[in-house]
Amino acid sequence: MDFFETVMVRRSVRVFQEKDVDALDVKQIIESSMQAPSAGGLQAYRIYLVRNKETLEALAFAAHGQECVSKAPLAIVFTADQKRSASKYQERGFEFYSVQDATIAAAYSQLAAAALGLGSVWVGGFDPFEVSRLVRAGAYEVPVAIIPIGHPAENPARPQGRSMKALVREV
Ligand SMILES: Cc1cc2nc3c(=O)[nH]c(=O)nc-3n(C[C@H](O)[C@H](O)[C@H](O)COP(=O)(O)O)c2cc1C
Repeated sequence: MDFFETVMVRRSVRVFQEKDVDALDVKQIIESSMQAPSAGGLQAYRIYLVRNKETLEALAFAAHGQECVSKAPLAIVFTADQKRSASKYQERGFEFYSVQDATIAAAYSQLAAAALGLGSVWVGGFDPFEVSRLVRAGAYEVPVAIIPIGHPAENPARPQGRSMKALVREV
């Protein structure tokens, strides 16, 4: 699948088959995330792989009961490593770059999953303290996204989206 096809086919998939994600696919997804740009090349994020059923269920509970988390064979939690970015960029790194680093890495994971024929969804609605506790995140780590990944059991339509006219200004 070429890049533009990957971008166009990626949709939020919230229902998965009861089938594990191949270990090589997991590796390729993580490696893709690690290629994402990051402020100063610091990669100020952490990546937590969750495959344990009980932890997936607890994560889903922390995400206000979203079943796409508990029913996925795998969820990846991306956290922003605020201290790492602050070591070079002080306040801006702490508050902003670390979150951006983690966000871009998470976005790459979704594109990689799509390129592999897998489905994923960005879950941002969760209790951050509970998610941190569940993945045993360190101090000054902020969970940015939970990305459940699996073999799709649905084929969502592309949302309408906003028009280019609404989104783009030539200045
Ligand atoms: C910051 C952010 C938070 C989101 N949180 C959730 C969420 O908690 N649960 C969910 O089902 N989808 C969530 N989504 C997915 C969006 O609903 C989805 O991307 C959007 O509807 C567009 O659909 P598409 O991904 O198929 O293009 C989130 C997406 C983003 C970027």
